[in-house]
Amino acid sequence: MRAPTHPSLRRLLTLAVFLPAPLCAAQPQAELIADRVVRFTDQGVSPDQLEPSVCLLHPYPAIGPAPADFPVAIDFSETPGGKEAFTVAIDPGTSLYATGEVAGPLLRNGRIVDTWNHDAYGYGDDAPHLYQSHPWVLAVRPDGTAFGVLADTTYRVRIDLTSTIEMTSEGPDFAVIVIDRASPQEVVTTLADMTGKIEMPPRWALGYHQCRYSYFPQSQVELIAKGFRERNIPADVIWMDIDYMDGYRIFTFDGDGFPAPKLLNSNLHDIGFKAVWMIDPGVKVDENYATWQSGTEHDVWVQNAAGEPFVGDVWPGPCSFPDYTNAAVRRWWSEQVEQFVQIGIDGVWNDMNEPAVFNVQSKTMPTDNLHRADDDLGGPGSHAQYHNIYGMQMVRASREGVMRANPKKRPFVLSRANYIGGQRYAATWSGDNSADWYHLESSVPMVINLGLSGNPFTGPDIGGFAGDGDGEMFARWMGVGSLLPFARGHTGKGNIQKEPWAFGPEVEATCRRALERRYRLLPYLYTLFREAHETGMPIIRPLFFLDPADPALRSEDDAFCLGADLLVVPELTPTRDRVPALPRDFAAAWRAFDLGDAADPDLPKLYARVGSIIPVGPVMQHTGEKFLDPLTLIVTPDAEGHAVGTLYEDLGDGWEFRDGEYRLTTYECIDEGGTLLIRATKREGRWIAPDRAVHVRVILPDGRELTAEARDNKDIIIPLR
Ligand code: GLC
Repeated sequence: MRAPTHPSLRRLLTLAVFLPAPLCAAQPQAELIADRVVRFTDQGVSPDQLEPSVCLLHPYPAIGPAPADFPVAIDFSETPGGKEAFTVAIDPGTSLYATGEVAGPLLRNGRIVDTWNHDAYGYGDDAPHLYQSHPWVLAVRPDGTAFGVLADTTYRVRIDLTSTIEMTSEGPDFAVIVIDRASPQEVVTTLADMTGKIEMPPRWALGYHQCRYSYFPQSQVELIAKGFRERNIPADVIWMDIDYMDGYRIFTFDGDGFPAPKLLNSNLHDIGFKAVWMIDPGVKVDENYATWQSGTEHDVWVQNAAGEPFVGDVWPGPCSFPDYTNAAVRRWWSEQVEQFVQIGIDGVWNDMNEPAVFNVQSKTMPTDNLHRADDDLGGPGSHAQYHNIYGMQMVRASREGVMRANPKKRPFVLSRANYIGGQRYAATWSGDNSADWYHLESSVPMVINLGLSGNPFTGPDIGGFAGDGDGEMFARWMGVGSLLPFARGHTGKGNIQKEPWAFGPEVEATCRRALERRYRLLPYLYTLFREAHETGMPIIRPLFFLDPADPALRSEDDAFCLGADLLVVPELTPTRDRVPALPRDFAAAWRAFDLGDAADPDLPKLYARVGSIIPVGPVMQHTGEKFLDPLTLIVTPDAEGHAVGTLYEDLGDGWEFRDGEYRLTTYECIDEGGTLLIRATKREGRWIAPDRAVHVRVILPDGRELTAEARDNKDIIIPLR
């Protein structure tokens, strides 16, 4: 047993309830910490001896012994090299998922993942680790019931799913938390109850984002933004990558290229764009540079084993690195961010925060570097302990800074590195994927597995970061990427232009249609973000959620569900020859529909769930352009003529929704014998029923459509023939 003792860790002791002394020596201790959630610790290790949990929202004192019928058993062991390990045996036919941000297929059986946040430019299917760490596995049993296994440690963990669930940690003893539920959905929402949910993002963050490494100089940024408006291609956000800085010194601007950043932001705002600017963690070692001077004065840097500030190379050359594990350092950082964003910056992009270090084989800091971490993170310790949460603590501090600058607005922070639970602070993108069909196809399972690991707000670099690709692939990528929660086009330095119009008129037309589709679906998408914020339900869901006991759906990862009511079937191979596995009741339970764009073969096919009502809005060029008027309701009645759906609306930014400034409407369709009656049957929130135009489209089983024009605050009656 190598459990560290730390004075701040004794708080659980008084409440801990342990099983009676184990009958056999290898028996782990098991205590109930929530309904059918059991914390296991190795024999002789009491939870109060362990490092505090960084991913859980709060400590979970034991509430009793584990139930005798708890169906998951843990076997702790020590490897010959002295590492802590555990194994969970699985029944044949059990499917394994999650493990966070991973390349390759959705189904993770047979895979090995090494949780170690890592700069992974152009990663392949066999990459052992990407940028984030989620020591978490979701297991779906043959009968569709499910459990989740969390190794509650920040240290490097090898997750081996080749035959069982086996995790081996490089660190001291840790707790294993197992959530047992009747369905995978319930496991995922319980994980979110315990590790946190996303904050409601500003609505503009759900729009389309355009990025490049780098748009330079600032006149080009404006040109690109205007390019969207001139061509009527919807977009909300434009991104500033590192070249805006003076010699890659964070919190500075290149005097020639970006002489007037405040004016740039305000010009962008004038045409309905928001501006997100990059801030990396590495601070250039330069005695004449205010941020480095201030950091040195405040003694904020991560230290090497000798207790001196650690220096490593990143974009600017030699850099010092803020130690975000320390509250005073996070405060210092958030003050820098607060000041920086005052010039009209709407969101912050934190990159390279694994942290990436160039010119060393490990691509990061030495593991014996020292962090002066807060007691509630584990107290002073090595980089081996804090590596995987470095990015998470950075975005925590950035978010605080953005919020302090604009307390009345919802912060938006995007991060490359993160750790399980980090969805509380930042959205995620896929890092440096490549412009090839493999990465296009991989972007769907990556988003799904991240959602199954607690982070629903993610998306790939649409079009691929490394390399050029071609128009055919770009169109297909935009078709599917525009339906993922975070939709941003991005590409690396030296590559061809990759704006929606860069590949000629045909691809441009597809991109316009794809983005118009996203903006039309925004009322539904925003409602799903609200659900994710409230419950932790992923926005993009695997098809096996529809029938967890159907083995055929377990590995489907081209087709997916957007929320509960929309099934999306994209074609992600150049030959368009992959046939998706669809639910057994597909023909009866789903109905094809389109938004006037079905003729475009590069857009995924859309199906509405029978019994649903999907709220859709008008095409708009950016989320702030128009109100939701007219509202279109896509109604897909079941055999009894019944359908139901919800629509969430609020100001799109700010916190007033917390005080009731919102409207959550339940629309219902009822068969009144020969006529369909559609009306709002339930309203929640202070906003009154709006007097706006409603366009109703009823999709009938034979594919015919009935339509009606009405007012939203009145009953809508549609004759059935
Ligand atoms: C990293 C990021 C990429 C960014 C580049 C330059 O490679 O992953 O998105 O464009 O750095 O800042």
